[in-house]
Amino acid sequence: MKTLVTGGAGYIGSHTAVELILEGHEVVIVDDLSNAKASVVDRIGQITGVTPELIVGDIRDRSFLDTVMGSTAFDAVMHFAALKAVGESVREPLKYWDVNVSGSLRLIEAMVDHGIERIVFSSSATVYGDPEVVPVSEDTPVRPPSNPYGWTKLVIEQMLTDTSVAHPSWAVALLRYFNPIGAHDSGLIGEDPNDEPNNLMPYIAQVASEKLPELSVFGDDYPTRDGTGIRDYIHVVDLAKGHTAALARLAEGPGRWVYNLGTGRGTTVLELIDAFEAASGVKVPYRIVGRRPGDVAELWADPSRAERELGWKATRDIEQMCVDTWRWQQHATGLEG
Ligand code: NAD
Ligand code: WQD
Repeated sequence: MKTLVTGGAGYIGSHTAVELILEGHEVVIVDDLSNAKASVVDRIGQITGVTPELIVGDIRDRSFLDTVMGSTAFDAVMHFAALKAVGESVREPLKYWDVNVSGSLRLIEAMVDHGIERIVFSSSATVYGDPEVVPVSEDTPVRPPSNPYGWTKLVIEQMLTDTSVAHPSWAVALLRYFNPIGAHDSGLIGEDPNDEPNNLMPYIAQVASEKLPELSVFGDDYPTRDGTGIRDYIHVVDLAKGHTAALARLAEGPGRWVYNLGTGRGTTVLELIDAFEAASGVKVPYRIVGRRPGDVAELWADPSRAERELGWKATRDIEQMCVDTWRWQQHATGLEG
């Protein structure tokens, strides 16, 4: 399928572009490069043998979208483009409502006008908030998010649900990611935060490579097996494969589906540090500090619906996630551009 990938130069989008190309899809990437480098597209080409077209522009710009969608008859859109830093969203909420919500609104309007009726959307497990029971299935009620970033994901899910009702020929997949980590095993693409990382795994990797002095572990007094927070870390390549499986589902006919993309296994912060040390052979100095506001004690997925309906299952374990992150972290510093 001819697939427009918004945010396709970013972390998850670039890995998904690789899987799409390897499965024979034609990929065009739209990205404003606000959190990515153009050279990523060449590295996608190195991995797959096919360099996708990159069109640099902003999804909030409707005339830009008209030009892109007017030039090619796309079969589907994969929509990754967004801002994703939870803390920044608290400090600058309107920026998040603008890029994430207005950007998605412009994109969906343009899809309606250009007759593109299939979309895969990057949602987040953050829509479950602090659930009463784990693991969470797609039937677990969503909760009012604790930050503007989470609100934007919930609102866009609703925008797409409403659109699928008004346009019954549409096929919509809302993919709720748990905690994506890891990198492609080529070492050519991975997560490369410009500023100090917000998330645990890139922070660990930068401490291990001595870019940062020490990791702060946010709380060891949670009601978990070692007192630290439990999350469902998923290898980004498994996550990317979940997208191609969802696209295949959309090709079967119209409807609207929600899928958890996680492994179904929870890992504590201290377990992830141990696994990273074992995989890298490098010590990760850390210090226990107070809890981070808004964090939940534990969150992991029941991913059985995706396995049942998409035939998709995450296969890479924590060790693989750490090995691939470390390989990427060592290469990333040497890569140019
Ligand atoms: P990322 O920042 O690496 O990728 C997002 C891409 O979108 C970047 O390349 C950026 O340059 C681009 N972009 C941003 N604003 C744009 C705009 N206005 N127009 C065009 N391009 C724009 O982030 P990621 O981790 O790859 O996340 C991809 C998607 O997955 C996002 O929607 C994010 O909210 C969602 N998500 C991420 C995680 C996670 O932990 N990484 C978890 C759940 C959901
Ligand atoms: C994981 C665990 C922290 C950093 C966030 C967003 C979610 C989605 C994924 C985007 C927690 C602990 C972390 C550190 C630590 N994002 N931690 N020291 O909070 O589960 O999810 O990223 O789309 O929406 O909320 O991920 O990696 O920040 O934290 O101890 O320096 O690591 O307390 O238990 P989180 P995370």
